[in-house]
Amino acid sequence: MNDMNIVTPRESKSSADTELQTLARKHLLMHFTHKSAYEDAPLAVISRGEGAWLWDEKGNKYMDALAGLFCVQIGYSHGEEIGEAVKRQMCDLPYYTNWGYAHEPAIRLAAKVAELAPEGMDRVFFTSSGSESNESAIKLVRQYHQAKGEPTRTKFIGRRSAYHGVSYGALSVNGMTNFRKIFEPLVPGARHVSNTKRYRRPENETEQQFTRFLLEELDSLIIQEGPDTVAGVFMEPMQSAGGSLTPPAGYFEGVREICDRHGVLLVADEVICAFGRLGEWFASTRFNFKPDVITFAKGIASGHVPLGGMITSDKVFNTVLSGPQQMYLHGLTYGGHPAACAAALANLEIMERLQVNENVRSNEAYFKARLSELLDHPYVGDLRGAGYHYSLEMVSSKEKRSWTGPTKAIDFVQKKLAPALVAAGVLCRSAVDHEGTPLIQISPPLILDRKEIDWLVDQLKVVLNEQLRSDLFS
Ligand SMILES: Cc1ncc(COP(=O)(O)O)c(C=O)c1O
Repeated sequence: MNDMNIVTPRESKSSADTELQTLARKHLLMHFTHKSAYEDAPLAVISRGEGAWLWDEKGNKYMDALAGLFCVQIGYSHGEEIGEAVKRQMCDLPYYTNWGYAHEPAIRLAAKVAELAPEGMDRVFFTSSGSESNESAIKLVRQYHQAKGEPTRTKFIGRRSAYHGVSYGALSVNGMTNFRKIFEPLVPGARHVSNTKRYRRPENETEQQFTRFLLEELDSLIIQEGPDTVAGVFMEPMQSAGGSLTPPAGYFEGVREICDRHGVLLVADEVICAFGRLGEWFASTRFNFKPDVITFAKGIASGHVPLGGMITSDKVFNTVLSGPQQMYLHGLTYGGHPAACAAALANLEIMERLQVNENVRSNEAYFKARLSELLDHPYVGDLRGAGYHYSLEMVSSKEKRSWTGPTKAIDFVQKKLAPALVAAGVLCRSAVDHEGTPLIQISPPLILDRKEIDWLVDQLKVVLNEQLRSDLFS
């Protein structure tokens, strides 16, 4: 992508609503979208993409610095190739099920995922989303313990502020209070431990002490609950919600040991982390631990079609089969849809051809170093992340590491930060995190090159230094 000039929404060709905007405000129920979008707030109607770039119907150009929703690993230039694979599959067999039957695309994709997964993770189940994948993992783990003669193991432990999806099981393991509390009572038995955010830990605490604190908390919670009541622990290798929370050294080795000691299964939610986001096919490899179940979605098909799933070992799977039901008692009409599997196979081929994992690994240090220049800004308190997934935490006082206003964090994000980012042509995530501070989250397509990284960081500087600085608190 040579042309780095963008037309920003401020230069929009027309401020009147188009037909599509009018219809969207009237008929489209948008996901997690504030009511102002149905009224008079700007509503971009995205109409095409190329590389890491998107255009709305008015011709405004943006960098997609969030890869859609953390999923468009290969960017927007391979729709035709993936579409051809889907078309071929549609002509041969547009639909069949994995309930009691198999078909070639699901078989080949399962074999491919097993080849890319950590050693010993050989059994693949397909779904159509991350929430369904986590739901499936919850049921697999429950059935595993029942088959082993331990039916009292029903509880799950997640981490504070973690996001695992919207369906009731996944939502229960979520640690996001705002998302949980209005839907309570949730599935009983979900508990939460601290996440790995270090920014507000005591200043003289070493990384080793932090790891020990986290592990002791997990261990003591399992003991307090009664190990024979705990089924599984759910963790992302790097937790996205809360702001790109990487694990401290030794953390996952310790979590693995605690789970083994108490007979608890460890589920790695890799819905965001897998398929190159951290430069590896699966991020548990990067952080040196072997889960019992890995859930995935998003990147496996670069978001081009809905597809998710979970991977487990023959040990877990065979235990489930040996139980009284003699089957994994779970299934989905669209799980392993032939067209979706064909799209994912084509996507993985493209990812290998473009060497996206290598691209992420070779640019990671450069990306992080460029983003760390933003720490010079008086209101950027912390930069966290790895691979192609970073978060900048904003504070009004660096000394206190907090946001104290006078503008409320939510108003700052909704009325200033988010519009300023869009106006600068940067589509990313801005939100208030669980500790009440604004976050900017960057997680671009994995094809982003250094020139585009430079463009992104420069635009963020424009937003922070020029557009926001003068009226940050007004
Ligand atoms: C870590 C994680 N798990 C699960 C999900 C749920 O995935 P989906 O929206 O496909 O249901 C998400 C979605 O962003 C996620 O980030």
